[in-house]
Amino acid sequence: MNQKANTELNRRAALLNFGKAGAGVLVASVAASKVSLALDNTLPTPAQVEGPFYPVKDQLDKDADMTRVKGRQEYAKGDVIKVLGQVIDVDSGQVIPGAVVEFWQACATGRYNHPRDPNTAVLDRDFQYWAQVQTDENGGFSIKTIVPGAYPAGNGWIRPPHIHVKVHVRGYPSLTTQLYFKDHPLNEKDLILQKLTPAQQDLVILKVDSAIPDQDALAHLTIYLSKFQSHEEGASMSSLATPEL
Ligand SMILES: [Fe+2]
Repeated sequence: MNQKANTELNRRAALLNFGKAGAGVLVASVAASKVSLALDNTLPTPAQVEGPFYPVKDQLDKDADMTRVKGRQEYAKGDVIKVLGQVIDVDSGQVIPGAVVEFWQACATGRYNHPRDPNTAVLDRDFQYWAQVQTDENGGFSIKTIVPGAYPAGNGWIRPPHIHVKVHVRGYPSLTTQLYFKDHPLNEKDLILQKLTPAQQDLVILKVDSAIPDQDALAHLTIYLSKFQSHEEGASMSSLATPEL
């Protein structure tokens, strides 16, 4: 395949995969062989506290399908969602291939697979709890998971359903953040989500489309990284004695 055809293929793939992604993407253009997107968003995805339940024990199965555990026959309990994502440099608009994106979350009952989780809700042995994926040449990735349960975080505070995320890639500060679900009633009172501005919240709230017959509910996610803007502001919240869950 010649260079021109290859470039056109990349451009089409980017549009096909991410034209719907949202929020930030207006049009695509190609410089050399790198896909570059014109964005209507200038904010990096905000950092939020890691929380105490990042996995401490390695597990063999960390693939993109969190609804199944290798070697087990049953499916995870809960409402299945597929997240189609893309990692983009917010300053240049260029897609970021080769980024490692990690997800960890509670199962449908609100319980983490973590020895220090005080929640007594039932653990779902058929849920994978943790996934690691790598972005493709268009910065794209996808995972299949379930909507996590809400869980108590002390003093009457109930954390809304959320998915923890870390992104690592050479040349960028690592990002640790959390994703939420649009219109969940607990969002408005969440002490962590509400630290963000409305514009920042918009970047971490998933809009799930469950209206497609016979298909998994779908959400698009764009993660915006910046080489120049540290993600420390959000991360430093943990040093302010704020709740971390
Ligand atoms: Fe959490």
